[in-house]
Amino acid sequence: MGVSRFLDRVVAAVALVSVVVARPAPVQVDGCGPSGKVETFEPPKHLLIFSLLAVKLRDPPTFPGVNPSPSWTPPPIGWIFKPWNQVLTSNSQAAQLRNFQWDPTPVTDSDPTGPINDLSSFQIPGNDTVFTSYGVAIPNDTYVAVLDYRGTGILENATSQYSWLGWGCDGNGIEYYVSYSTAAEASGTPAGIDVMSLVDTGLDQATTDRIVAILKQSESEEIRNIAETFVENIQDGGRQGLGRITECDDECKTNKDLIGIIG
Ligand SMILES: *[C@@H]1O[C@H](CO)[C@@H](O)[C@H](O)[C@H]1NC(C)=O
Ligand SMILES: *[C@@H]1O[C@H](CO)[C@@H](O)[C@H](O)[C@H]1NC(C)=O
Ligand SMILES: *[C@@H]1O[C@H](CO)[C@@H](O)[C@H](O)[C@H]1NC(C)=O
Repeated sequence: MGVSRFLDRVVAAVALVSVVVARPAPVQVDGCGPSGKVETFEPPKHLLIFSLLAVKLRDPPTFPGVNPSPSWTPPPIGWIFKPWNQVLTSNSQAAQLRNFQWDPTPVTDSDPTGPINDLSSFQIPGNDTVFTSYGVAIPNDTYVAVLDYRGTGILENATSQYSWLGWGCDGNGIEYYVSYSTAAEASGTPAGIDVMSLVDTGLDQATTDRIVAILKQSESEEIRNIAETFVENIQDGGRQGLGRITECDDECKTNKDLIGIIG
């Protein structure tokens, strides 16, 4: 263990103590993401304590009457560009799809704050073909961590706005986020909330429970109602060994393989 690693542990231990003492003051989850500092919390039960205290959700900032939450921080620039698995959703339609993955990338590599390639992929029951769904999402110029999505090809009239409600590391130290999306009428998608994880087995139960409990106490009736309808996505390992789908060519951008599958 090098000196800096040792110091990390000391810092982590001190941070942990102050976290416990400071309860229930909001705890920032800046340690998650690129800096990876949370990895220095050992043993795992400390991670769990940290994550439980750290779950910090906002209501969609675009909702009427929602005041910006001073203690809420958006994900760092570029943090969302990861291989995500949808593990919990309020969208009963999406829940019937299998092994739903989301692989966002910047449209322009040098501009991680610009438009993103919004590329989802999934299987359907009884069929191991992997389907893709593509659109472009543009960061909203008024609200932080809010993206305005529009599909391409047969989904060209499908629009939706999604807002990051929370993000961080779960009790296993694995990154997750929670987002709200408005309804997309053209693809028959209702407004809802999704939870995504870097592992397809999802979040530890305590962190999931905490997220759902916070949403059930939202000041927004819409969010409270959505929080009653969560179901686990089907993640049955059917895409193991197949590799992630991270690129969408012109054919893929037509979204035409989705005819008869969604909507
Ligand atoms: C799976 O879906 C693809 C694309 O729609 C189709 O061509 C194929 O026949 C389906 N396979 C089965 C076993 O249903
Ligand atoms: C940003 O969000 C607001 C509120 O939903 C919306 O009215 C506006 O059109 C969005 N901006 C863009 C550029 O889509
Ligand atoms: C999208 O809407 C426009 C205007 O209503 C319509 O002309 C076009 O056919 C629609 N596209 C699709 C793929 O449905």
